[in-house]
Amino acid sequence: MTKKLPFTLEQAKTWRETFPTPFYIYDEAGIRLCVERLKRAFAWNPGFREYFAVKATPNPTILRLLSSLGCGTDCASAPEVEMSVRCGIRGDGIMFSSNETTEREYRAAVEAGAIINLDDITQIDILERACGVPETVCCRYNPGEFAIANDIMGHQYDSKFGMTKPQLFEALALLRSKGARRFGVHAMMTSNSLDTDYYPTLARELFLLALEIREKIGITLSFIDLSGGLGIPYLPEEQPLDIGAVGEGVRRAYDELLAANGITLSLYTELGRYITGPYGWLLTSAIGEKHIYKDYVGVDASASDLMRPAMYGAYHHITVLGKEALPPAGTVDVVGSLCENNDKFAVDRPLPKVEAGDILVIHDAGAHGHSMGYNYNGRLRCAELLLTQAGEVRMIRRAETMADYFATLDVDPEFPL
Ligand code: LLP
Repeated sequence: MTKKLPFTLEQAKTWRETFPTPFYIYDEAGIRLCVERLKRAFAWNPGFREYFAVKATPNPTILRLLSSLGCGTDCASAPEVEMSVRCGIRGDGIMFSSNETTEREYRAAVEAGAIINLDDITQIDILERACGVPETVCCRYNPGEFAIANDIMGHQYDSKFGMTKPQLFEALALLRSKGARRFGVHAMMTSNSLDTDYYPTLARELFLLALEIREKIGITLSFIDLSGGLGIPYLPEEQPLDIGAVGEGVRRAYDELLAANGITLSLYTELGRYITGPYGWLLTSAIGEKHIYKDYVGVDASASDLMRPAMYGAYHHITVLGKEALPPAGTVDVVGSLCENNDKFAVDRPLPKVEAGDILVIHDAGAHGHSMGYNYNGRLRCAELLLTQAGEVRMIRRAETMADYFATLDVDPEFPL
């Protein structure tokens, strides 16, 4: 089975002359369309806003593109807040959904005017010491039990995120006593879910919670943040989510539980993978073959460029560019150069015969791809390119150089030992 690409072998070969592999390339048109589809699916909710999860693709050009489409950013750290600010995103355009947060990071987020999303009741003290309790705050909920789960986020009883229900009620009342006036609730129960019912099921649970909060402590929530977690079809035989049906499912729950009980509130999402995942590819050149007890194809990218397969055993489809129509010549492990035996983009993958210099495209790498890169074995982080709507290619992050690698080190031979 194949997956569609918005570029050809000829184009990729030309790009490779200017930008040595490995590199990431993102498709502007695909990202735009995806955001438009999402906005249409939730247009019935007047305050709806997507806060793009910066952790998925922390690149200023991507953030500016998304901001131009009306998205805010969901940030987990001070550097992510700083990137948003440098892209002209501040105030309630930033959702600060962090955990185990320090006073310093709260100060950075509050200075940018971000909405603070508290992961735990004990964080209230830290936030207050750092900069006082802001007027608008959000609390993250962990119900313990939830119907839909997978291995990336774990099950809710085992999850380190969010507050229990009694803690959530106590936190909201405490925040009100300390001056907060607008409240939101946030929850993320799973990751990469292709289940059309995930958001509607979560929304239903949070809408019931909103009713209970109003009844028990007299707070009417201003917003509910459904966070991220919508999945993408990594496998070629999987179907993309019907986002229209997802929006409809949430609308039904909203009408039934909130509107019918006189509550109007804004819905927010913090999608990362859904927005950029399918519209980014890692391009890498084949170095050669190796045949020992198994057959290997070696490439010039490694897990330090894309760690999802090594970390989660995640499937990423691979196309040998120009050989899409050829039958498999056998099954191979596609491996990088790290001194780690899990440095494999694919295991036992049927592929056509790969020759040195062939360009391999690793699909669905647009989210949690480059951002999870690292420098093990002295591997340098690779470049990111954007294929613009006009069909031009622009470098939006250069590859790291040896100088970058040494920038944080002191290699002074005179240093007294
Ligand atoms: N909001 C919060 C608070 C999150 O923790 C996450 C992801 C998101 C939003 C965005 O989730 P998404 O829509 O992209 O699934 N690195 C992993 C996924 C870990 C998810 C962590 N949180 C991966 O490569 O699959």
